[in-house]
Amino acid sequence: MSPANLILPVFIHDGEQNIPIASMPGVDRLGWRHGLLDSVAEARSHGVNSVVLFPKTPEELKTPTGEEAFNADGLVQRSIRLLKDRFPDLEVYTDVALDPYNSDGHDGIVRDDGVILNDETVEFLCRQAVSQARAGADCVSPSDMMDGRVGAIRRALDREGFTGVSIMAYTAKYASAYYGPFRDALASAPKAGQEHRIIPPNKKTYQQDPANYREALREARLDEAEGADIMMVKPGLPYLDIIRLLRDNSTLPIAAYHVSGEYAMLKAAAERGWLNERDAVLEALLSLRRAGSDLILTYYATQAAKWMAGE
Ligand code: PBG
Repeated sequence: MSPANLILPVFIHDGEQNIPIASMPGVDRLGWRHGLLDSVAEARSHGVNSVVLFPKTPEELKTPTGEEAFNADGLVQRSIRLLKDRFPDLEVYTDVALDPYNSDGHDGIVRDDGVILNDETVEFLCRQAVSQARAGADCVSPSDMMDGRVGAIRRALDREGFTGVSIMAYTAKYASAYYGPFRDALASAPKAGQEHRIIPPNKKTYQQDPANYREALREARLDEAEGADIMMVKPGLPYLDIIRLLRDNSTLPIAAYHVSGEYAMLKAAAERGWLNERDAVLEALLSLRRAGSDLILTYYATQAAKWMAGE
């Protein structure tokens, strides 16, 4: 395991200050420009040269269809340009999903009866991915779990001339309780329904059932056929068997997302002095590597790289 295996997820907001996230001690919503640039510069200085961007969108910019997702001057698009301008060789990954922009708090468009509209959502995801590519993203990462989106995004990118932009598919993303702190960070949890509108309180109609092992393989075959360049399993540690399943059944690079809840558990125990943080974190990341992931998305990326270097 080395820092080159790690990808740092960063939360950004359109303000000056870095704002701490209560359920993720040590992780901030970074202020646009300085907070973001400083955090990426620090990661790079320790050998972590890949980041994935997650924006906190002001409530007034959220809509049922999430048009802000493909605003050429949106926070993510501006951040990509800023980062590529300052660090041309940085690998910039982006998230493709509507939840940071959707007033209902879902990754897809919610119809009044509570159904998530798959194909209509995919159209919007394609526009989002193209706008991120146009801003300079190296790799777009659909985390939405709509059916058929990898192929549709590949065709949309190619049509616009972005044949060199890769796709890291969230292939096996489970409907997990471990995303809680992330939804706090972005204020992106599903909203309460109203009398005339049903909003599903969870994402179980499009994310995978934690009890289902074989479905991961079906999703992997589809994503490969549709043109994914990297396949991801998420969360990480509770799903080591799924990482191994994909590793043994594909020649593509496999990524694991050590998610916000996994980070929060380690932090909480470490803060109480119940675990040795360094040893427990490095063991967790090593286990994700051993299970077969080439890439690990982790909020510990910079810290882990320092520990690996003996700091
Ligand atoms: C949503 C998205 C989520 C995460 C990454 N992209 C949350 C969700 O599906 O509700 C979670 C990451 C984490 O918990 O660290 N598109």
